[in-house]
Order: sequence, then C-alpha cells, then structure tokens
Amino acid sequence: MERIDKIISNNTNLSRNDVKKYIKNKLIIVNNKIIDSPKIKIDPNVDKIFINGEILKYQKYVYLVLNKPKGYVSATVDNLSKTVIDLCPDKFKNRNLFPAGRLDKDTTGLMIITDDGEFAHNILSPKKHIKKQYYVVLSGNLDNIMIDEFYSGLVVGNEKFKSAKLEILSNNTCYVTLTEGKYHEIKRMFKKYNLDVIELKRIMMGNLFLPDDLDEGECRELTSEELKKITS
Ligand code: URA
Repeated sequence: MERIDKIISNNTNLSRNDVKKYIKNKLIIVNNKIIDSPKIKIDPNVDKIFINGEILKYQKYVYLVLNKPKGYVSATVDNLSKTVIDLCPDKFKNRNLFPAGRLDKDTTGLMIITDDGEFAHNILSPKKHIKKQYYVVLSGNLDNIMIDEFYSGLVVGNEKFKSAKLEILSNNTCYVTLTEGKYHEIKRMFKKYNLDVIELKRIMMGNLFLPDDLDEGECRELTSEELKKITS
C-alpha cells in the first residue's frame, strides 16, 4: 500500500502539490470513489486510478536507456555541469532516477538509468561479471602483445585490473570488454602504454547493444526484451 499522492506524482509529471489541487477539485477517482485526501493509501497493482478521467498507467520502476553525449556527468545533481538525469523524459522527473554505473564526462554511449536500486546493484556487482564493451580511439598505435596482457589482467602501479578482452580494429582503434568498472579504468589501462584515449564510447552492457534508434542525447524506456538482455 502506498500513498495516492506519491503514486500519482511518481507516475506523471504532476508534483505532490498539483495532486493536492486535483484532489480538492475532485479529479482523482480510485475504483469509482472520489478521493478526498492525499494521504489515502491504496494498492497501485490492484486499484484503478483515474486522473481527470484518464486511467493512470502504473509502473513500479522505470528502466531507461540513454545514448550519453559528451559534457554530461553521471550523477543525479551537479553544481557546475549538466547531468545525465537532465536528458531523461519529463514524465519521469518526480522519480528518484539515477545512473546505474558511471561514464566519464567525456565518454559517450550506452547508459542505463533507473529508480530500481536492487537492479542497479545487480548489474554493477563485480560478482555478476556483466560485461561492458567499449569502442576506443587512441592517440598512438596498438600492439598485438597487449591482447595477452589485457587478458592476464593488467597491473598498473598498485592496481590490478581484472582480465579484459582487447580486440584490435586498426592501428589506433579497438574494442575493450571489461567485467568491472573501476574509476577511469580504460584510460588508466592504456596509460601503461603511454597511450591517451581520444574517444571512448560504451556500446554494450551484458548482451544489450546500444540501440541504433537512439541518437546522442536521446533517452527512452527499455523494452522488456532489452532489459533481459542486460543480465542474460
Ligand atoms: N573507462 C574509462 O576510463 N572511462 C569510462 O567512462 C569508462 C571506462
């Protein structure tokens, strides 16, 4: 059971205050009964909620896929920069959305945004070994020897990185697949070889590729098939 004002604000772009006004104007109906208080608790899985005559589509959680552009930080709030949450559809703005994992400000590509903490924890846990694949452009040349070194687990200073897959595409472009997500991981791995990362784009999480209908900066809900692919 949950408060009616919370359910409505989470599932629309109405604020709790807006909901109060709707209630005052007798515009909120649950199972044929006019609601007279925002504190009333109902079961959104069972009860039918109408707002000004329109049925509410209730969703417990929201799962969004974003094609992250450069210049946005992977956080919910930031004093200086725009955040990935700013790119989410307005109708979800009353939810506590957060990015499931981080991409650097200058990294682009696949990002999952949700309000389901357990799901986020699951896809980020190193124990689950969910792979994340990146397309990388480097400042200099790759060498075949690096394939084995990445596979064995690079040691950079005091840091040991987990086994990673390096697929060389050209002298300075490659795919890297990681199963962990350490801070600046790919940039630090290539630093070992005095290479700078010029472009970094995440293209896959689990078995979900960045959907090709999403331009940079676009964000939409995942289909249930896409959602399953992340963990399958
Ligand atoms: N590795 C990095 O260095 N940066 C990212 O954003 C992701 C992986």
